[in-house]
Amino acid sequence: MTLRLFDYEELYQQLAEQGAADWAAQLKAAGAAAIQSDRHGKLAEWTAAWDQVVVPESTVFEAAGRCITATGKITDQERWQLERALRTLHPWRKGPYDLCGVQIETEWRSDLKWDRLADRLELRGRRILDVGCGNGYYGWRMLAAGARLVVGLDPFLLYVMQFEVVRKFAAAADPVAAQRHFLLPLSDREIPERLQLFDTVFSMGVLYHRTSPIDHLQSLAGSIRPGGELVLETLVTEDDRATVLVPEHRYAKMRNIWFIPSIPMLLCWLQRTGFGDCRLLDVSRTTPNEQRSTPWMTFESLSDFLDPGDPTRTVEGYPGPVRAIVSATAR
Ligand SMILES: C[S@@+](CC[C@H](N)C(=O)[O-])C[C@H]1O[C@@H](n2cnc3c(N)ncnc32)[C@H](O)[C@@H]1O
Repeated sequence: MTLRLFDYEELYQQLAEQGAADWAAQLKAAGAAAIQSDRHGKLAEWTAAWDQVVVPESTVFEAAGRCITATGKITDQERWQLERALRTLHPWRKGPYDLCGVQIETEWRSDLKWDRLADRLELRGRRILDVGCGNGYYGWRMLAAGARLVVGLDPFLLYVMQFEVVRKFAAAADPVAAQRHFLLPLSDREIPERLQLFDTVFSMGVLYHRTSPIDHLQSLAGSIRPGGELVLETLVTEDDRATVLVPEHRYAKMRNIWFIPSIPMLLCWLQRTGFGDCRLLDVSRTTPNEQRSTPWMTFESLSDFLDPGDPTRTVEGYPGPVRAIVSATAR
């Protein structure tokens, strides 16, 4: 099978069959525009790297364990070429992956978050939207947990390219399964107001990046069928009152953090935007065991963002990152 880069035809067909032909047309136009705009001016380089990834025919692809793994016979020379191509797609933030012996130790041990939520959810047969999905690590885990379809949205084209590389291995192992996971280079802005299509919608690590968290929650609410589930993961503050932290400038050196709610405030936002049955699945402090610099993400990471004298606080003096996972039902 010849795999094409950014091939969403099967997705558009599936959406049309579900009565969402208009949305498919919108995604097609917006996706093409996003790819063509090549905001970082690196698409040619990334595409060359994607081209260089040659996948053995007898590949086995596994996503049920902590590391997403493709196994297949390649020579040392081919492994060296594969590693070189994969390194072109630096920084690798979400993972880990092991592609034919090339071990991609990503900035995040994404498996740890998955372990905190997977047992609490039923994903079998579900049609899933993952908003802000990064390179699609969790989408592969969702498929392995029995999801029928996973559609990821992430506006950062590099992450989509990382996904496209991994998809090559998945498609070589099982062409049909690989047609159930798609990642479009788009944001939550492409979700129509009353789509009501997905059984489960994930938004993990996105809410605090939005200048309007309420608009984000409303767009998620519109994407879920009535009775469907939202899985929301976000930074929170440990305040028993309904309050919200708006960092004055940066938070943990990040410029694009706008609203960090307390859990009571988050529950209030969810209730106001059309969700019920809110269940708090987990609250965890993020540690350098879960987020750290690696040879595959060589920029600064969590330990550089925390106060060396008091690692419970950020370098700016705010409470250090604590994340909550909430499940809620769309009314
Ligand atoms: C902190 S990462 C979280 C990735 C993944 N969901 C996870 O939990 O590990 C946030 C992701 O959201 C994406 N993002 C930022 N703004 C977005 C938006 N408006 N709509 C969708 N994704 C967005 C970023 O490109 C980034 O990949």
